[in-house]
Amino acid sequence: MTKEPGWDAPPGPSVQPGRPQRNSRSTRLLASVVALAIFTFISSSVNFRILGTASFMSSSRDAGFNSIPFHAKEILDECAALKIPAGPPKDFNSRKVSDRYTPGTPSTIIYNARIWTGEKNGTEVVDGFVWLEKGIVVAVGGLEEQEGVLKELRGSRKHDSLVKFVDAGGKWVTPGLVDLHSHLGVMSAPVLIGAQSTNSRKGPIIPWLRSIDGFNTHDDSFELTTSGGVTSAQVLPGSGNAQGGQAFVVKLRKTPERSPSSMVIEPPHSLNGSTLDPSLPPRWRHMKQACGENLRRYGNRMDSIWSFRLAYNEARKIKDAQDDYCRKAEAGEWDSLRGQDYPNSLQWEALVDVLRGRVKISNHCYEAVDLDNLVRITNEFKFNIASFHHAHEAYLVPEVLKKTYGGTPTIAVFAVHGGYKREAYRGSPFATRILADNDIPVVMKSDHPVTNSRYLLFEAQQAHYYGLPANLALASVTATPATAAGLSHRIGYLREGCDADVVLWDTHPLQLGATPVNVWIDGVLEVPVAVEKGGSEHRVPVGKGKEDPGWQEIPEVPNWDEERQRAIEWEGLPPLGGTQVHETVVFTNVSELWVRHPEHGIVQQFNGGFEEFDSKDQVVVVNSGRVACVGPSGSCTGFMSSGSKRANLRGGVISPGLTSFGSSLGLQEIEQEASTGPGKPYDALIQDVPGIVGDIGGVERASDALLFQTRSAFSAYEAGVTYAVVALDSYSGLIGGLSTTIRTGAHHSLEKGAIIQEVTALHVTIERDPWGSGYVSTSTQINVLRNLLLGSHQGVTSDSATGYWFRKVTRGEIPLVVKVDSVDIMATLLKLKAEVEDTKNSTTKLVFSGASESHLLAENIANANVGVILTSPRPYPATWDSRRILPGPPISSETTITKLQGAGVLVGIGVTTPDFAKNARFDLTWAGLESSGCINKRQAYALASTNLDKLLGIKHGSGDGDLVAFEGGSLFDLSSKVAAVVSPQRGLVDLF
Ligand SMILES: *[C@@H]1O[C@H](CO)[C@@H](O)[C@H](O)[C@H]1NC(C)=O
Ligand SMILES: *[C@@H]1O[C@H](CO)[C@@H](O)[C@H](O)[C@H]1NC(C)=O
Repeated sequence: MTKEPGWDAPPGPSVQPGRPQRNSRSTRLLASVVALAIFTFISSSVNFRILGTASFMSSSRDAGFNSIPFHAKEILDECAALKIPAGPPKDFNSRKVSDRYTPGTPSTIIYNARIWTGEKNGTEVVDGFVWLEKGIVVAVGGLEEQEGVLKELRGSRKHDSLVKFVDAGGKWVTPGLVDLHSHLGVMSAPVLIGAQSTNSRKGPIIPWLRSIDGFNTHDDSFELTTSGGVTSAQVLPGSGNAQGGQAFVVKLRKTPERSPSSMVIEPPHSLNGSTLDPSLPPRWRHMKQACGENLRRYGNRMDSIWSFRLAYNEARKIKDAQDDYCRKAEAGEWDSLRGQDYPNSLQWEALVDVLRGRVKISNHCYEAVDLDNLVRITNEFKFNIASFHHAHEAYLVPEVLKKTYGGTPTIAVFAVHGGYKREAYRGSPFATRILADNDIPVVMKSDHPVTNSRYLLFEAQQAHYYGLPANLALASVTATPATAAGLSHRIGYLREGCDADVVLWDTHPLQLGATPVNVWIDGVLEVPVAVEKGGSEHRVPVGKGKEDPGWQEIPEVPNWDEERQRAIEWEGLPPLGGTQVHETVVFTNVSELWVRHPEHGIVQQFNGGFEEFDSKDQVVVVNSGRVACVGPSGSCTGFMSSGSKRANLRGGVISPGLTSFGSSLGLQEIEQEASTGPGKPYDALIQDVPGIVGDIGGVERASDALLFQTRSAFSAYEAGVTYAVVALDSYSGLIGGLSTTIRTGAHHSLEKGAIIQEVTALHVTIERDPWGSGYVSTSTQINVLRNLLLGSHQGVTSDSATGYWFRKVTRGEIPLVVKVDSVDIMATLLKLKAEVEDTKNSTTKLVFSGASESHLLAENIANANVGVILTSPRPYPATWDSRRILPGPPISSETTITKLQGAGVLVGIGVTTPDFAKNARFDLTWAGLESSGCINKRQAYALASTNLDKLLGIKHGSGDGDLVAFEGGSLFDLSSKVAAVVSPQRGLVDLF
């Protein structure tokens, strides 16, 4: 019932559909901006003493007498230091011990490895070894040197006990991944209000805040994220402010000191107030800026851009005063400085450093207008922006980006996540490639916890799938973000002198499901985790079922030239939906055909298993959307004509259309634009449903609120997700109403076959309230549900919708889907189910959706014959209710899916974000790949098709289920893309 507020949304009273809002916050506009910005620096007077010309310093200008301050040397040093550019000292790479070295850490040599170093534009691969010592990569070498080095290390008694030997067995090794955009530690898991330091509400301009000051070292995400191979992350303040504060790049390793400070890589000198050593270059600092929608609390786009200009003008005044002061000091004009201290301001010093080119700015900025605004400001005030983040329209305005003062920024994006708000609406999965084609550096970022940074590499895999070259895709999560953060001298690469942050992968890292076998941070072994925790070394099998050498190769991907061109032409909104063909379509070169079987689930009609089978000759002939002939082309000639349309699947597979479950798909176009959605149903727990509704519980039908032709629905359709179960439960309170099942590719509800099942299930949500908004207690929620199921509320008459549908539930005529994550609530629901069945002498069909903690109750759920739909199949412990996840390899052998299936629970998978519905095929592949061989392809298909049919009672007429034709592989292969949807019920084929 509550939707987690977007972590990138403006802060403050969480926006919670279905809950009363208490956010009539007064928007303070320009007044507060001005008040803040005109806060000028204070210069205090200093002690000058009149010194004779014979003193330690003399003025060359004044003959005779001049006043020179006692601390003239400090002043001159400080002035001189202003001219030293930020970055590492020249001799950095000759260091022998890392400043991050934990004494006692053994040296490690990883040998027989395929090493992707990040060098040469991400094309360099070394077959050989990486040697880690004292927190540093001390050598990367080829096989020719390897034997010698191993021998020396093995022979040396000194080293013997201190060196760990890791045989990579020919597997891939990369630098630890670098996440350029994370809210780890400031937006922690599980959400506990006391630990959130994402956005300050104290104004649009607050560059003096520091994310490290709100950093929670107990975020559950650290271990999870590290288990995905991520070793460093830039911790950014939120994007609710134009200048939200300073950011810090941290290592995701708990240090012996256990402090935030000790996790920061190269803390800037200003962090701890230590005096600057003017002989050393200053370390890079980091700053978060944001523009666009998230600043609405402070006004509109014009207001926020003015706030930027006001702030930079203030900083510029200070910088000019400093420069003037230094010019005079360096010229020995001390008299003119009498009574003046070096001009500075604790509040504005960070922004002054921006103007001095010492700060890497990460700028959240989506649209052409925002990018253009900020680029204009960089030229007005002469500073650089290191990276634009999100930047969903960056690919449409490469020439604007190139006008940025001081050089083109890096663009940090999601691979496919878009459309969630207006400024992300024109995002394109082809953006990364288009940017790369324009020579603009591309970074994939998590925006953790918006997407779980454990799967940062998945972003790179998807970017590669949609056309980003492999070398750049790998660099996009290693070398490129490290460079954008000014830290490429120590992270993001594997070369001598870099930090010892290394990952050994089970497959080529661009293969879906690639999982770390080992992760080292600063040379310390972090994965497998049991080693760290002091337990016995409990090795989780990683890479089981991926023994085929093909897994070590860069995956082949489809050609998207045409789609990419269309994305640019249509400014991100190319028409979707395909071309309908009612006549005969001949699919040639088909390697497999799988269909939905009314009793046996997914079955395979033919495959390449036969001796004489030659897929090149196999055809599937479809007539009016129905499969008419399957077999060698010679045997099907009678079903084709010379005019028949042909589609060469190049060895591809035809398989059943998938079903999406769990998001607002089919109800809303843009998630964060309420006007594009259905609005909120009444929640009978917090207000009386008006009498005119005629139903005390206010049970509503999703079929009355449908919105067809949304981009998320059509994108899902074009990715092989042809059905969606649509429910209002993400908008409502306890009672989520009646779901309906639709065809994602339909144009309106009256189109033939648009509605698969008018009423599918009755939905309710039972949860603790993660945002503390004062929703009714879980006991009240359960109590109300009990009354509804037992029919014991006198107001719930059998002729009301509420009475009618809950009665149907108790009779087992319609499934009850309960959105629930907590195992304790699930246990209570199992008791309630037994009580109801006992009282009513009936069997109810109960399904838990969400169900993050369900693995803890697998046996009981199975015994109660309850089904489970996991809407986060790769789980994340977002809330207190969902914190006890079963993470899967490399942390645990089992996944939630394998645990439940092993106990005999019927499992389906779903999705929470409409925009991710199109990713169902990847979700199925992941489910199979991380199951250590427990889930085969047939079972994987079923998770998002026939299992959902069974759980929800969705009926497809015999042979009526949609089929999806993949070109170049199956839905499990990165080499494939959808060529067509075959729709018997509508008598047509949609060709893409
Ligand atoms: C880096 O690699 C990309 C993609 O492979 C290529 O297009 C680009 O020209 C390369 N850049 C340099 C400087 O070699
Ligand atoms: C319960 O239902 C079963 C069959 O549905 C029936 O045989 C039995 O008599 C019922 N018991 C009671 C107590 O009504």
